[in-house]
Amino acid sequence: MESTPRHKIPATLIPGDGIGPEVVAATVQVLDALGSPFIWDVQHAGIAGVTHCGDPLPDVTLESVRKNKLALKGPLTTPIGDGFRSSNVRLREEFQLFGNVRPVHTIIPGRYDKIDLVLVRENLGGFYVAHEYYIPVGDDPKAVAVATGVNTRDACARIARFAFEYALKHGRKKITVVHKANILKVLTGLFLDAARDVARDYEGRVEMNDIIVDACAMQLVLNPWQFDMLVCTNLFGDILSDQLAGLVGGLGMAPGANYGTDTAIFEAVHGSAPDIAGKDVANPISLLLASGLMLEHVGKGDLAQRLRTAITQTLNTDHICTRDLKGTASTREFAAAVVRRIEST
Ligand code: NAI
Ligand code: MG
Repeated sequence: MESTPRHKIPATLIPGDGIGPEVVAATVQVLDALGSPFIWDVQHAGIAGVTHCGDPLPDVTLESVRKNKLALKGPLTTPIGDGFRSSNVRLREEFQLFGNVRPVHTIIPGRYDKIDLVLVRENLGGFYVAHEYYIPVGDDPKAVAVATGVNTRDACARIARFAFEYALKHGRKKITVVHKANILKVLTGLFLDAARDVARDYEGRVEMNDIIVDACAMQLVLNPWQFDMLVCTNLFGDILSDQLAGLVGGLGMAPGANYGTDTAIFEAVHGSAPDIAGKDVANPISLLLASGLMLEHVGKGDLAQRLRTAITQTLNTDHICTRDLKGTASTREFAAAVVRRIEST
């Protein structure tokens, strides 16, 4: 039965910056073809927030997410060095989206085949708390730079428990805790300690081991199949999730979900890609897959499955893909091809 607007689920849609509006438009088009359960409230953030509302994180956007507790978000540009603080980080803080889940799996076999990994990133603490300052020396106001990372035992235990519960729910067998407890003995040692404590509650159900982040980076290149789930502090999770994307074809293939206790924001792992913005060449698959995670979140796993099947058929049967995957399709052409697949099944 067609759902009527009355039965639709209100969700905030943030087109974002750079390639954001292009991949968001492609995603909305594909969701519409699936019979989207969502009714969108379009709001702005990032540079688009400044352009539309004079603020990189306008109050109306925050109010919309607060009301809907659900959002699909394009990437937001953050100025490097000076300038406003990341609207992504602020959104995660505002809604206490502590759990960032970034699954990757091979759709087009490339350098690696049969990759099926989930990275869980602690999303609020570590070095992202922005406790940073300069110490002036002589006439150099920026002679010394200092950053403080903050991890609490509660937050570490919370992300570990979240990861173990995710493993149980999704049939995952092993969690590898990524740290640098040999050097950052306190900041990441606490993360490891807390994870080990939590792991005891899951003994016999989910296995846990740990690895130092640099060794993990190398092992992910040599033998990624040894891993099942990775649980990381904020900064290591950020870095390794781009590396995971590289195992399955690049940043165009990597979705992400930010979960709090009552709010969830779905996005791609990639950023606003200013180098290709406005050219209709961006790969929309990351955001499409993120919308699949959003469909699962609202109990529409059947639609998510149809979406993933249509993407797989478009890539592997129709051989249509964007240029980052060595194809020639534009963003719009790729979206249209996925829509054709959905409409023919
Ligand atoms: P990026 O992820 O935007 O781009 C890195 C490289 O990957 C570029 O060469 C880009 O063209 C390519 N790429 C990314 N997504 C692609 C796609 N869908 N299809 C094809 N190619 C794609 O990272 P970059 O350049 O470091 O950051 C640009 C801006 O994005 C910065 O302001 C950064 O702060 C922001 N950013 C925002 C994120 C978010 O909103 N969650 C996440 C990461 C970065
Ligand atoms: Mg990143």
